[in-house]
Amino acid sequence: TSEQGVAGLPLVEAGSQSGAEQTITILYGSQTGNGRGIATELAEKALAQGYAVNLVSMGDYKTRQLKQESLLLLVVSTHGEGEAPDDAIELHKFLSSKRAPKLDNLNYSVLALGDSSYEFFCQTGKDFETRLNALGATSIAPLVECDVDYEAQAEQWQADVLEAVKPLVQSSGASVVSIASSQTSGSSYTKQKPYTAELLVSQKLTGRDSDRDVRHVEIELGESGINYQAGDALGVWFTNSQELVAELLEALALDGDESVSVGSDSLSLREALTSKKELTQLYPGLVTGWAELSQNAELLAISADKALTREFVNNNQVADLVRQYPAKVAAEQFIELLRGITPRLYSIASSQAEVESEVHLTVALVEDERDGVTRFGGASQFLAAAEEGQEVQVYVEPNNHFRLPENPETPVIMVGPGTGVAPFRAFMQERAALGAEGNTWLIFGNPHFEQDFLYQTEWQQYLQSGELSRIDLAFSRDQEHKIYVQHKIAEQGEALWQWLASGAHFYVCGDAERMAKDVHQALLDVAVKYGNKTQEQAAEYLEELRAAKRYQKDVY
Ligand code: 2AM
Repeated sequence: TSEQGVAGLPLVEAGSQSGAEQTITILYGSQTGNGRGIATELAEKALAQGYAVNLVSMGDYKTRQLKQESLLLLVVSTHGEGEAPDDAIELHKFLSSKRAPKLDNLNYSVLALGDSSYEFFCQTGKDFETRLNALGATSIAPLVECDVDYEAQAEQWQADVLEAVKPLVQSSGASVVSIASSQTSGSSYTKQKPYTAELLVSQKLTGRDSDRDVRHVEIELGESGINYQAGDALGVWFTNSQELVAELLEALALDGDESVSVGSDSLSLREALTSKKELTQLYPGLVTGWAELSQNAELLAISADKALTREFVNNNQVADLVRQYPAKVAAEQFIELLRGITPRLYSIASSQAEVESEVHLTVALVEDERDGVTRFGGASQFLAAAEEGQEVQVYVEPNNHFRLPENPETPVIMVGPGTGVAPFRAFMQERAALGAEGNTWLIFGNPHFEQDFLYQTEWQQYLQSGELSRIDLAFSRDQEHKIYVQHKIAEQGEALWQWLASGAHFYVCGDAERMAKDVHQALLDVAVKYGNKTQEQAAEYLEELRAAKRYQKDVY
């Protein structure tokens, strides 16, 4: 692994510097890399001011270190139903456990990341705040809760904590940073400074009669020097469709040429709606704001009820809100109500060992028809409609929690229904290009064999060459009853147990809410049935696999 630190910062051994009491420890925990980005920025700023900084992923942080800390700055996101991101789970648990020490000498501050369209907004950050406080630590700057367009707030928090740190920590002028996590992919292109790449191909993978539109997308990274690893994700910026912007302008009775400001930019309302603002995902704040403007009784009732608001947010887009509940609004006022547009992350479907300067994605067009109106997902529609040669702004988001085993002889089991198959195409390309000897097993599922067998010919070739050892397929709608990947796991339980016993790594990619949970349950059942374990032992076994990085998930 290359020993370049995050964003090119020099790398020294974690905890190796003396005078630990003068060190600012910055911990981050995030699934998507936003937390790491903010924490790295903070580390750079602290460094520039001459502080000694220890920047660590929560996943690599030794909890026994806590008692020695004097200053802890945490950046942590929240997922699903208020859950901690994977790399924060242990620290989160530890702080809530009886083992957690008194932390009377600790100063801290927490930046919480989240998405306000979810019920348990910023819950993990709030938990950290509550626990650190209860353990006797002193807050040096109040908890900040950030929504998906967090940039301005995160910057303010960084400034506030660095101000609060001044009387507490002596600046050594030494400019020491230690970064405990190794970072092996990336480049100078980031979410904030993406690379303008060229789209080579956007072609439909699913058949004509499929219910789904899944695209294979190829992007040329040219001379960017961008490196990525199998398992990483690609961040893709997009613009909203002109039809959607036109529909919205019409519903607002605005013509689009009005001048508005976004941050320090001054631009037309049309431009702002096209490239600066999120139109395809609603959030509760907009429903509330719009209810007040429109004074519509029905919408006021919705916005007064959390559950109804969430339901509305999940089933509608900005244009639906504005059409259903008309209100008169000035261009600038409307822009201020909207959240900033954020790029979408796609698991990369290629390996550079095979495709060199290209990067491939597997993109499902997000489509929803309601009352005769079809609404699309912002980025997936952009990519599906993109033409050859079109510019796309992208950056690599490393994912160190989804990696092939270091030893190419270690067997891998890959469970990837739907577009969840993407990173396994990357895994297979990588293993094939390296001539890896380890066994490989793909478990794939989708509605119909005829229409939805993504990359069918590629898997067949890998099977023929022996590079893919086995494949199990779950076509859910080709028969009366549903067959899902977890049913294949149950059916092949004995073989699967043997693979695990021989050291196989187990990977799951795709739907987090149902599929990954059902697959987890199926694995537990396999461990009980074929590993002769009790329920409890099976759970422990999977926990051990996870801790040993042999059970990895890329779920969304
Ligand atoms: P379905 O849509 O026919 O129910 C990719 O989306 C595949 O995952 C589809 O075949 C889909 O089946 C299936 N799927 C839906 N729910 C699932 C679940 N809980 N577990 C596993 N697969 C599921």
